[in-house]
Amino acid sequence: MGNAGNIQPVQWRNDSLVLLDQRRLPAREEVLVLETVEEVTRAITDLVVRGAPAIGIAAAYGVVLAARSRLAEGDRQWRSLLCGDLELLAAARPTAVNLAWAVARMRACMVDVPESELLARLLDEACAIHAEDVAANQRMGMLGAALIDPGSGVLTHCNAGALATGGYGTALGVIRSAWHAGKLTRVFADETRPWLQGSRLTAWELARSEIPVTVIADSAAATLMREGRIQWVVVGADRVAANGDVINKIGTYSLAVLARAHGVRFMVVAPTSTIDLDTASGEQVPIEVREWTEIWAATGSDKPPQGVDVLNRVFDVTPAELISAIVTEKGVLAPVSGPGIESLQKG
Ligand code: MRU
Repeated sequence: MGNAGNIQPVQWRNDSLVLLDQRRLPAREEVLVLETVEEVTRAITDLVVRGAPAIGIAAAYGVVLAARSRLAEGDRQWRSLLCGDLELLAAARPTAVNLAWAVARMRACMVDVPESELLARLLDEACAIHAEDVAANQRMGMLGAALIDPGSGVLTHCNAGALATGGYGTALGVIRSAWHAGKLTRVFADETRPWLQGSRLTAWELARSEIPVTVIADSAAATLMREGRIQWVVVGADRVAANGDVINKIGTYSLAVLARAHGVRFMVVAPTSTIDLDTASGEQVPIEVREWTEIWAATGSDKPPQGVDVLNRVFDVTPAELISAIVTEKGVLAPVSGPGIESLQKG
């Protein structure tokens, strides 16, 4: 399975949530120690922790912190106050369904639990969510790598690695497994404008794991495909809709279109916690729009000239028909179809 570089974006240590601050990588490896749910909500919004599964895991521990604070206050209304905390936490980012999924799962395990046992029960559940994610990644790594022929070049977008999960990674889990099986000629990482998850995080993570990687400008993908240097695009997902549409980092859709045009295969790797059967298709998913400053910063000037608008939509929708395979811990779906998604999720 190979060395995953011992990268731990989310840890529970000494009754606190410890997050590796991804805003500072690769220049500095700093952690933040969080004691309250408000701090966790802010950390998710501000991208201290990011990537759909990692956000869900951090939120699960955030529920433990919320319950601890509300119980310590001793207010008889603690259950409804806690509900309010969890609503704010679940709304910290809108697109990755793992966040709402994890908060709902934590909420469900509070039912019928005596107050004296609540914190222990919640912590067990958060640890279970964390451990299940790592196991799912390892299984997906194996299943996805099996689809890749020896001698392949792969391209990944954003960061769907150990940093974005409980450990090992979804798309990067497949790339790790394929690399260690000796199947890959080269790994290319899109820089991933504007937040640079590719050049800052994926490149750092692969270097840590001693997997050679070449960072390219997002706009270079077409040329590399045309030259025959990429056989698979391998990406993660923030949400998979019931019809198989995939919502992922902005730029994923363009890669899928390019891949189709060049006969390159397109793999999405995501645990079943990312499948949202309540959302019929990609058009219904709320797409996060972040501050214009994230795009404008690269210009080196403070603000755009008058009359210039900047739009920072950070996710897009890739239609199911452009996807060659969706890899989950429960199996591989190829070709992608609505009924197939449903049976994977329920299976
Ligand atoms: O804005 P981010 O960095 O949270 O976006 C992350 C992605 O788009 C990932 O590809 C996705 O969450 C899958 S992570 C295993």
